[in-house]
Amino acid sequence: MNPPWRFGLLCSQTGVTARVETTQLNASLLAIEQLNQAGGVAGRLIEPLVCDPASNPKQFAAMAERLLNHGRARLLFGCYMSSTRKAVLPLVESYRGLLFYPTLYEGFEYSKHCIYTGAAPNQNSMQLARYLFGAYGRRFFFVGSNYVYPYESNRIMAELIRQAGGAVLDEIYVPLAPQPGDFEKAIRGIARTKPDVVFSTVVGEGTAMFHDAFHKAGFDPVRLPIASLTTGEAEVADMTPEAACGHVTAAPFFDILPGPAAAGFVSAYRARFGADAPVPAAAEAAYFQVMLAAKAIGQAGSDDPALVQAALAECEYDAPQGRVRIDRDNNHTYLWPRVARLNAAGRFELVWNARTPVKPDPYRVTQTLDGWPDDAVHQPPA
Ligand code: ACM
Repeated sequence: MNPPWRFGLLCSQTGVTARVETTQLNASLLAIEQLNQAGGVAGRLIEPLVCDPASNPKQFAAMAERLLNHGRARLLFGCYMSSTRKAVLPLVESYRGLLFYPTLYEGFEYSKHCIYTGAAPNQNSMQLARYLFGAYGRRFFFVGSNYVYPYESNRIMAELIRQAGGAVLDEIYVPLAPQPGDFEKAIRGIARTKPDVVFSTVVGEGTAMFHDAFHKAGFDPVRLPIASLTTGEAEVADMTPEAACGHVTAAPFFDILPGPAAAGFVSAYRARFGADAPVPAAAEAAYFQVMLAAKAIGQAGSDDPALVQAALAECEYDAPQGRVRIDRDNNHTYLWPRVARLNAAGRFELVWNARTPVKPDPYRVTQTLDGWPDDAVHQPPA
């Protein structure tokens, strides 16, 4: 057998975002195992090179360099926080590699050496904003972690709120690795200003702390939800159902999606990693991006990043969320936006569902909210 293709997996198993990044690692490994069981790609197996960069941008950069420097891997997969992607990209560019990035992010970026498979703001922020304005109101309170994604994501959400004639009542940032007491100021501000929606860009471990503090303060999530693009099944797994209830998010994938592709992925993941394992959108993107990369390698007959990228432009894949493909103009992915709310059992229920995939538009987030169709499921809070 020929030597294997080597895929560098940069997924933190320790640090503040370990919970969600571990799901990205697991989903990448699941895809690699399935491909290898089917004989590999172009007659060669795939060997995962697994790193733990500990949710730390410097360690991400050091490990990316170690992978790329000696030609150990030319294709890298992973990064959750935008700070880590931004630390890795200059290295990937200088070594002419290719990073597959499976996480929603703030947009306004293009690298020839990056394939973005998570949602851009026109594929999640806009749909979430539109649902929240209709179901709850337009007076928002922002709470976020102190790094680049929350500032930029809040800037985009604030623009959408202003377009709709609403208001941002306050904007508070907590440390990336917070203590429970770090949320007290936000809780006092929410009690004082009485917003319609709390928009959280808190990531990782702080998410459950924030929900716990919000629940203990006695806010009614039916009338005042926490909405967030960074609170998925992985973060919810660390909350009690009472603290999770009422939370609203937008993502292309939820673990409750009907249909054989989604159900098959969730059951294969849980058979491999545990019956109760959370399976968020971040994991689904990690899974399908490995499948897309393998398809492109198969077509190119090479893992040369430039050839893989050229082949990717012609590839489609029936992902658990629906058929996906990369937009050759901007290296982002056509995705299927959805909005969901957590019920009293801590399970997501769809409240809005796009009927068609949405073209990624990382630089044009100022487009208005008008013109979005009233698709499929669109339910007010119970
Ligand atoms: C993120 O930092 N892109 C969630």
